[in-house]
Amino acid sequence: MIKFENVLAVETSCDDTSVSIVRNDGFVRAVISANQDSEHKPFGGIVPEIASRNHTLHLLPLIEVCLSKANMNWSQIDGLVVTSRPGLVGSLLVGLVAVKTLALAKGLPFLGVNHLEAHLLAPFLRDEGYQPPDDFDYPYIGLAVSGGHTHLYHVTGLGEYRVLGKTIDDAAGEAFDKFAKMVGLGFPGGVKVDKLSKEGRRDAFVFPRPLVKEDNFNYSFSGLKTSAQRLIAGWDDHKIKENLHDLCASYQEAIVDSLMAKLDRAVVQSGLKRAVLTGGVSANFRLREAAGEWADKMGVQLVVPPLRYCTDNAAMVGYAGIQRLNRGEVSAQDLGPSAHVYPDDFIDE
Ligand code: KG4
Ligand code: ZN
Repeated sequence: MIKFENVLAVETSCDDTSVSIVRNDGFVRAVISANQDSEHKPFGGIVPEIASRNHTLHLLPLIEVCLSKANMNWSQIDGLVVTSRPGLVGSLLVGLVAVKTLALAKGLPFLGVNHLEAHLLAPFLRDEGYQPPDDFDYPYIGLAVSGGHTHLYHVTGLGEYRVLGKTIDDAAGEAFDKFAKMVGLGFPGGVKVDKLSKEGRRDAFVFPRPLVKEDNFNYSFSGLKTSAQRLIAGWDDHKIKENLHDLCASYQEAIVDSLMAKLDRAVVQSGLKRAVLTGGVSANFRLREAAGEWADKMGVQLVVPPLRYCTDNAAMVGYAGIQRLNRGEVSAQDLGPSAHVYPDDFIDE
């Protein structure tokens, strides 16, 4: 018998505050998030102190709204889940303290989970508007690509994640955001680069694809950023504006090519015919298009969760947590936040 049917989950690892109620089968009964983009925008990036302060303002009201959205009360919640690592420590702490306090007050067990594991398990989520393909299951190759991470995994089951490769410098989302800032698009700029690219030529400018030819699964994006910087170094605002669509399309194509080259290598070498694309950057139109075409050509089942489960959200956290709670895992009240993953979270190559 399943002990945990419904959990309430909290995500505060970066700048989004999110709360969700998730069922053991992955059905999302409710999810609600508060975005802080406008608070960080004037600073051109995420300011950790502002992020944690906003979590303290948003979290408790969001929990109340989430319960009422799901039409549920505390007596129907069997446990609590919270992201405890990796992330901004001050941000993680807000979610963790709230969940530990609620666990004591409501007499419920709680579990701290790894944010990256949650991203990797997002394809198992479902709701009234979305469900994964009927035959979707382990094993798969997972590419988690966001503002903080660009990691390629071989996933064989719950808690069985082999890191095949990762970025050796910037994350892909960071590469998008830094470029956007450089060409005057503000923060966060990934989505703006995506939009402008649609009317640009992908081969207008030549940008490097570092490491793509190397026989490993690592990524590197800092050279790409430097090469864009060099290209536009002597340009005035007018010239940047004039070339903006082409610049965006060409720069974006270099990121997409790099991401796809290693995903392809991982699928070919593993012999697996199933791949998952997740994290905020998987919202990118061109990446989705290229991945879709690649999957068709390769006969690979590609699952890209809907955007609401690709970007940071508490539903994926709840799903990872409820699976583990039902396996008998539980956290103790002395659990603290960690900026990094635990050594045994992933099997490193
Ligand atoms: O997963 P996420 O919401 O937060 C974490 O970083 O964990 O990812 C945010 C990142 C940002 O770097 C943002 O610019 C990027 O995802 N992003 C995009 C797009 N939408 C979001 N990058 C490219 N194209 C997009 N459409
Ligand atoms: Zn994330």
